[in-house]
Amino acid sequence: MATLALVSRPVGVLPKISSSCSSAVLSAASVTTVPQRKLHHAVIPKGKGGRSSSSGIAATVFGATGFLGRYVVNRLGRIGSQIVLPHRCDQYDIMYLRPMGDLGQIIFMEWDARNKESIKRALEHSNVVINLVGREWETSNYRYEDVFVTIPQQIAKAARAAGITKFVHMSHLNADIRSPSKYLRNKAVGEAAVRDEFPDAIIMKPSEIFGREDRFFNYYANMRWFGNAVPLISLGKKTVKQPVHVVDVAKAIINAVRDPDANGKTYALVGPNRYLLHDLVEYIYAVAHRPFVPYPLPRPLYHLAAQFFAMNPFEPWTTADKVDRFHTTDLKYPGLPGLEDLGITPSTVEQKAIEILRRHRRFRYLEADLDETKPAKTVNY
Ligand SMILES: NC(=O)c1ccc[n+]([C@@H]2O[C@H](COP(=O)([O-])OP(=O)(O)OC[C@H]3O[C@@H](n4cnc5c(N)ncnc54)[C@H](OP(=O)(O)O)[C@@H]3O)[C@@H](O)[C@H]2O)c1
Repeated sequence: MATLALVSRPVGVLPKISSSCSSAVLSAASVTTVPQRKLHHAVIPKGKGGRSSSSGIAATVFGATGFLGRYVVNRLGRIGSQIVLPHRCDQYDIMYLRPMGDLGQIIFMEWDARNKESIKRALEHSNVVINLVGREWETSNYRYEDVFVTIPQQIAKAARAAGITKFVHMSHLNADIRSPSKYLRNKAVGEAAVRDEFPDAIIMKPSEIFGREDRFFNYYANMRWFGNAVPLISLGKKTVKQPVHVVDVAKAIINAVRDPDANGKTYALVGPNRYLLHDLVEYIYAVAHRPFVPYPLPRPLYHLAAQFFAMNPFEPWTTADKVDRFHTTDLKYPGLPGLEDLGITPSTVEQKAIEILRRHRRFRYLEADLDETKPAKTVNY
């Protein structure tokens, strides 16, 4: 805690980015910005923009121990930020986060989402708050209402009370109060609750995120354990997906933090292409060099099977809610800014899928050339 800023929040020093920025421009931005307020030397932007310089960001990242968290922490660390990581697990379980920042710049702190004091303590010395808290399934302790509405609301409230001006909240592209998925309904309520508490919040609405540790591509690829038989409602031919790469989402969060014009905006974060779910899963199997055996499963039957898996007291392989969420067509938001507005060129599935799927290949295909795999068909509706 020793190196954390102990004075006023350096709002004015968060370096500004232009919409067409590159990482080099971002690095330079941290050096050129002139601090306007008296600051603790630890948070005054200085250096060349690398991990041993100071970006002027002191960020508390709630939910950093999850899939997206490691990418966000890594991006913050490499530009030289101070990062507070509230966690509820054993410190040894998150040791992989420690080398992501310079010595002493990453601070672990225990928190309890139900304890307002612990939320307050976690953001006491920060000028940026990022909320990545989420859960794919409900537990007896935490329902979706808690994870997606109450906790974000409490964090937003505490951030506003502390005078923080940068608050990033993760929602979902398909968040909708009329959605069949309870997860997505609560995401919609959470979005509104956060806006009420913190009108200047930056709300990110990513589609399903794919990346090495994801629960999307890996979920389908793991169905190889069931003899490569993939159940899909209507064979996946009525669902359109536009997945986004995890690194692009992490970059979007950092760029939004550094862009003063981003406050109060909602971003729709999607990949460059839309695919039928059937074609996307077919491509996943093609890259994994596994036979693809899709079969149509009516929704009620799929729900029944999912309810069986949901009885798992640990991480359920699937739930009825996940079935509904994955079979929801990704919404289009032409009016909302996206990755390009934050200076990011979205990566395609074809560019990144191999990073996730190589480990699902048989040994003999481990190094097989990707050129032989036909790209997935795209749609534009
Ligand atoms: N992954 C996607 O495809 C996707 C798509 C759209 C939106 N999102 C949203 O993006 C955010 C991050 O996603 P993710 O995939 O990184 O999620 P994740 O891997 O499930 O991680 C969720 C994080 O939230 C924490 N958390 C959950 N319940 C908590 C509780 N009751 N108290 C304290 N901490 C709690 C977890 O801590 P523990 O490690 O201690 O459990 C973990 O750090 C979520 O809000 C998610 O809904 C994700």
